[in-house]
Amino acid sequence: MPIARAQTMSAYKEAYKNSIENPEEFWFEEGKRLRWSKPYSVARDCSYAPNNHHIQWFADGELNVSDNCLDRHLDNLAHKTAIIWEGDNPTESKSISFGELHQQVSKFGNVLKSLGIIKGDRVVLYLPMIIEAAIVMLACTRIGAVHSIVFGGFSPAALASRIQDSQAKLVITSNVSRRGGKAIPLKDNVDQALSLPGTDSVKNVITIQRTQEKTTLQEKDVWYHDLMAAAESDCPAEPMNAEDPLFILYTSGSTGKPKGVLHTTGGYLLHANMTFEHIFAIESDSVFWCTADIGWITGHSYVIYGVLSNGCTTVMFEGVPTYPQADRFWQVIDKYNVTHFYTAPTAIRSLIRAGDEHLRTSSRDSLKVLGSVGEPIDPASWRWFHKLVGKGRCPVVDTWWQTETGGILITPLAETTPLKPGSATFPFYGIEPAIVDSNGQEIENEGSGNLIIKQAWPGQARSLYKDHIRFLETYFSTYKESYYTGDGCYRDGDGYYWITGRVDDVINVSGHRIDTAEIEAVLNDHPSVVESAVVGFPHDIKGQGIYAYVILDPQVNTVVTASDLNTWVRQRIGVIASLDKVHFTANLPKTRSGKVMRRILRKLAGGETDNLGDISTLLDPTVIEDLKKEIQ
Ligand code: PRX
Repeated sequence: MPIARAQTMSAYKEAYKNSIENPEEFWFEEGKRLRWSKPYSVARDCSYAPNNHHIQWFADGELNVSDNCLDRHLDNLAHKTAIIWEGDNPTESKSISFGELHQQVSKFGNVLKSLGIIKGDRVVLYLPMIIEAAIVMLACTRIGAVHSIVFGGFSPAALASRIQDSQAKLVITSNVSRRGGKAIPLKDNVDQALSLPGTDSVKNVITIQRTQEKTTLQEKDVWYHDLMAAAESDCPAEPMNAEDPLFILYTSGSTGKPKGVLHTTGGYLLHANMTFEHIFAIESDSVFWCTADIGWITGHSYVIYGVLSNGCTTVMFEGVPTYPQADRFWQVIDKYNVTHFYTAPTAIRSLIRAGDEHLRTSSRDSLKVLGSVGEPIDPASWRWFHKLVGKGRCPVVDTWWQTETGGILITPLAETTPLKPGSATFPFYGIEPAIVDSNGQEIENEGSGNLIIKQAWPGQARSLYKDHIRFLETYFSTYKESYYTGDGCYRDGDGYYWITGRVDDVINVSGHRIDTAEIEAVLNDHPSVVESAVVGFPHDIKGQGIYAYVILDPQVNTVVTASDLNTWVRQRIGVIASLDKVHFTANLPKTRSGKVMRRILRKLAGGETDNLGDISTLLDPTVIEDLKKEIQ
C-alpha cells in the first residue's frame, strides 16, 4: 500500500528512513498510486556506476499518462471540474470537466493519428496558457507521441533550434497569445522559425484560433477547430512501457547549447503524482493554482500531470500578475475559491514592490497552502507572502527542484514540517541529498557546499535527447556515483537545507534558467562584437539580472549601443534573455591560460570592488582597475 500523508514529523522521519533504506520495497508500493495496464514486477533497477550507468523504474510495467489523468477518474469524477481557465482579460473564463476533457483529448488523439503522428514522434507545442494546451499535451501522451513544449517567450530562432534538435514532425501553436492586454504573434513566429534551415522535419502546423485576429495560413497549416470538428471521440489510450519517452523539455545548460531533458512515462508520473498530494496536502475539494507557464517544468508537473492524475481541479491562467491591476492574483483566488496557490519569488517580489494596497480588494479566505518555486526566496518575501497573502494561516512550502528532477525533491510537507522562512527544509521520500566540498568530500551535519543527490529516484531525467554522453558528463561525472545539481546549499544545525543558488554558469532570471554561454555565443555573433562575458548580478525583482561585458571591434565603424545589443539578443533567444546592463570595455580579466575569470566579473557586476579574491593568476591585473573605473 502507498504510504499515508505524514501528519507528524516523526511519521515523516520514519517513512523517510524506510524510503532510503528499502527503496525497492518503498517504490514498489508507491507505484500502486498509478493505474497500470500491465503491472510491473520490479520497481527499481538503477546504478550510477560509470561502467554500468542505468536508470530504470517499473521497467516491465505498462501504463498511459492520459489514462491516469482522465479515464481513471471517469467513474467518480466525470462531472468534476478538471480545469478552470482564466483568460488574460478578466471577462474571459471557462472550465472543463474531467468527462469533457477526456472527450476532447480523445478527439485530438485521433487528429494526431490522422496526420500520421505515431508513437515516439516528436510534437513541438508553442502555445499560450489555454485549455487546448492541456488537451494537446494529454493527447500526445494518449497516443505515445513525445511532446516538447517551447515557452511562448522564446524567439523564432530559439524555437527553430529546438525543432531542429528534436526533428519534430508537427508544430502546434495558436494564432496569438494574449498577455497583459497585448497580443503576441505566436503563429508568425512559427512561420519565421520554419523558414530557417533544418526545420524540414515539420510536416504540419496546427493552429488554434485564440482570437479573431486575421491569420495567414501556409501550405502546411491546418486549423485546430476544423480538425476537431471531423474527429471521432473514441481513442483508446496506448499502453506505454514505463520507460518509454514522455516528453522532452529544453533547458539551459552551461555550454551554450540548450539541453533536451528527456523524461519517461512511469517514474515521472509517479513522482509528479506523489509529490503533489503529499507536499501540498491535497484534499478532494482542493482547487490548485500554479502560476507557472506550461513551457516550464513546473507547468508540466504542477499545472497538468501531478494535479490531474490526482483528480484535482487545476487553474490555468493566461495572463500576468499585474494586469489589469496588481490585485489580479488575489481576484482570481477569490473568484474560484483557490485553496492552493503556488508561485515564484519573482512574482512575489514584484507584488511587494506594488505596495500592499492591492491586497485590500480580496479576502483570500479560501487559501490553505502557499507554495514557492524557481529560485531562493528571501526571508522578507517569504514573510510577506505568509503574513499578508495567507494572513498568517497558510503554510508556505518552499519547494526546491529542477527541470531534470521531474518533480520536487527538497521541501516542507504542508501542515507537517515546522518552517523556517527561506529554507526548503527537508528531502522528500526517497531523496538522499548530500553536501560536498570542492574535493568531493561529503560534509556531515552543518555546513555549505555543492548539493548532490545520492540515490536514484523515479522522476529523474533519463537522458538528454540524442546526447546521452552529455547527460552522463553533466550530471554524473563531477561527483562519484551521484547526481550533481549545480546548486550550492547550506545545511544548518537542525538539518534544514537552504539552497543558495547556482554554482555553475547558469543564472536564474525571474525564476528562468539562462545559460550565460548561450547569450555570449549570440553576442559574439554580432558583427561589431569581438568578445563578451555574461554574468548574473543581484536584481531586486528578477532575483538575478543579466550583465554583459562587451568588447567591440575597433575596426567596425558602425555605432553600436546597449539597446542594439539587447534587441539582437532578444531576437535570437527571446525576451527572457533581455540584457539588464551592457558594459563596454576594452579587455576582460583573463588567466595566463586565456580563461576569463568570471568570478571577478560576477563580483564587479554585483558592485563589489574590494574583496575580489585571488587575482595572482591574472595575465594583466591592470584590467581590473580599468573595469572598476568604468563601473564607477
Ligand atoms: O537553482 C535552482 C533554482 O532553479 C533551478 C532549476 O531551474 P529549472 O530547471 O528552470 O526549474 C525551475 C522549477 C523547478 C535550480 O537548480 N530553484 C528552483 N527551486 C528553488 C530554486 N532555488 C532555491 N529554492 C527553490 N525553491
